[in-house]
Amino acid sequence: MSLDEVMERTAADLVPNDLEAFWMPFTANRAFKKRPRLISRAKDMHYFAPDGRAVLDGTAGLWCTNAGHNRAPIVEAIRNAATELDFAPTFQYGHPTAFTLASRIADLAPAGLDHVFFCNSGSEAVDTALKIALAYQNVIGQGARTRLIGRERGYHGVGFGGISVGGIVPNRRAFGTLLAGVDHLPTTYDRAHQAFTKGEPAYGAHFADELERIVGLHDPSTIAAVIVEPMAGSTGVIPAPQGYLQRLRDICDKYGILLIFDEVITGFGRLGHAFAAERYGVTPDLITFAKGVTSGAVPMGGVLARSSIHDAFMRGPEHVIELFHGYTYSAHPLACAAGIATLDLYAKEDLFARARKIEPIWADAVMSLREQPGVLDIRTVGLTAGIDLAPKDGKPGVRGYQALETAFHDLGFMVRATGDTLALTPPLIISEDQIGELIEKTGKVIAATA
Ligand SMILES: Cc1ncc(COP(=O)(O)O)c(C=O)c1O
Repeated sequence: MSLDEVMERTAADLVPNDLEAFWMPFTANRAFKKRPRLISRAKDMHYFAPDGRAVLDGTAGLWCTNAGHNRAPIVEAIRNAATELDFAPTFQYGHPTAFTLASRIADLAPAGLDHVFFCNSGSEAVDTALKIALAYQNVIGQGARTRLIGRERGYHGVGFGGISVGGIVPNRRAFGTLLAGVDHLPTTYDRAHQAFTKGEPAYGAHFADELERIVGLHDPSTIAAVIVEPMAGSTGVIPAPQGYLQRLRDICDKYGILLIFDEVITGFGRLGHAFAAERYGVTPDLITFAKGVTSGAVPMGGVLARSSIHDAFMRGPEHVIELFHGYTYSAHPLACAAGIATLDLYAKEDLFARARKIEPIWADAVMSLREQPGVLDIRTVGLTAGIDLAPKDGKPGVRGYQALETAFHDLGFMVRATGDTLALTPPLIISEDQIGELIEKTGKVIAATA
């Protein structure tokens, strides 16, 4: 069926008659199924409900569709790839687009990060990066370095590695003892000193010094790697304080600890650069990515590694596998085709620079919401915003959920709610008029839920 035919399908065809079987991820299933928020198609800045109602996408899906939805060159590339090569193993075999895409991503990365390991999601990318870090310490004769350091309020997906280094309590507490030997840096958020800051707050570089305390406690010889998001996204948009990431880099260098930036959200333009590492002028040893690499069109994730890390594995007999890790769908042909078309589109439309250019307009627009009822803080960086709302009637999370429902059903836009924090992260193609529309509607939602 062609895309046009799909779009012409009647609303009735697109509404399922039984919502029970699908156990929905990270969703209040019972509430959703009482009042579903169904999406049946998308184009550019909009989703469309089955009845054809347009919904302005204020969240780039789940921080993925940076180039906007159903862009023709990406759709066409996927379609062509599907007719050409459905699947090819990348264990002991290879297909050309995997190599092409890896080179293209390495070209966008900070100098020195020249090797790409592919997987299918951000969670897999994180677990892959943690495993590469541990295995690297092993191959260089530092096998006692087994500890991994994450950060409070960090989100690194839902694998056991990711939830172990992650710092969002509900994502961890029901799942047992997790990985042993993990410690956490404190969050960099301190509302008393940072409220209503546009961009990176001036206060907070010193939170990086806690790494010295952790190193002192465990001894550097036991620590393999530190992993942080350059901007903590899922917890509600917490930009790195000025100078913080450089300080982490310096401490890691001092003690031979690898630094991993989890750029699953910040990669591919979200902060106005290919990677946030470039925005901050701080080069980590490993970078995870996913989401924006295919503008969300086909699942894909990966890890960028420094040459010195990659090269350390390239020894021993040449017929022997160097890293015992990989996924059946690592570098799936459809994902690679989507990735190449996406990077072409980002370049053609100069979308990373566009995000940089509209960042001040975006930040001013979002900050205009500070006088709305019960707004406790607003944070912005790149094309992201986090808005903390005062909980309703002492019941945390109720207001955030009502905001989500009101936005979708009554005002025709999509916002993300984490507890009572709203997050806005639109596709990078958002026009200035659409920024105005999104912020005006967000203001209405805040007022309606006060
Ligand atoms: C920083 C970060 N790491 C990892 C992940 C996990 O990605 P996925 O949901 O594709 O597994 C996310 C998802 O939002 C993320 O924001």
